[in-house]
Amino acid sequence: VTLSNYNHKELLFKFLIIGDYGVGKTAVVRRYTEGKFSSNYKVTIGADFAIKTLNWDPHTKINLQLWDIAGHERFGYMTRVYYKYAVAAALVFDISRITTFQSVKKWLNDLREKVTLPDGSNIPIILLANKGDIKHTAIPTEQINKFCKDNKIAQWYVTSAKENKNIDEAMHFLVENVLKSK
Ligand code: GTP
Ligand code: MG
Repeated sequence: VTLSNYNHKELLFKFLIIGDYGVGKTAVVRRYTEGKFSSNYKVTIGADFAIKTLNWDPHTKINLQLWDIAGHERFGYMTRVYYKYAVAAALVFDISRITTFQSVKKWLNDLREKVTLPDGSNIPIILLANKGDIKHTAIPTEQINKFCKDNKIAQWYVTSAKENKNIDEAMHFLVENVLKSK
């Protein structure tokens, strides 16, 4: 959606936040949109969404609509509905739990099968290795690098919703990619 007058543009982008249950999707969204973190785990049912407004440059305002999809939804019949009109995605895993990294491939396949841009191309995707504040990391960096290369994921970040690490950077990268492809 583009609203423009002579020198001001306002854009609306839908981003998906997906990955296994408990990896910190809701925590990442909350940190990014509200600047808060809680260590209580409240399972997301279905999907939630939040808005983040970015004053990108003096002429451009971007409203990011972040769709925080419940981890247990991968086999749910709603995913196709939730994915509709998305222009980018952040795929999240928990760096301390290997099973959540193993699931990334399944989430990626689901995403690539169900979401394409109007011109038929894939949407930009980044990988977030969340809970980077936990000292025990279960997955070696080289393995994540290789996975991204093999699967054409442009970028990955070690993030922490708890310590506010790399979340702004990761979202910024995605926005830049979306703008580039416009
Ligand atoms: P579902 O809604 O079930 O799909 O899970 P989710 O991916 O939304 O996970 P959620 O954000 O609810 O986080 C799960 C648990 O991990 C909570 O107890 C969070 O406090 C914790 N958590 C999330 N992010 C971090 C982080 O960066 N570091 C640490 N140490 N804990 C985190
Ligand atoms: Mg959640």
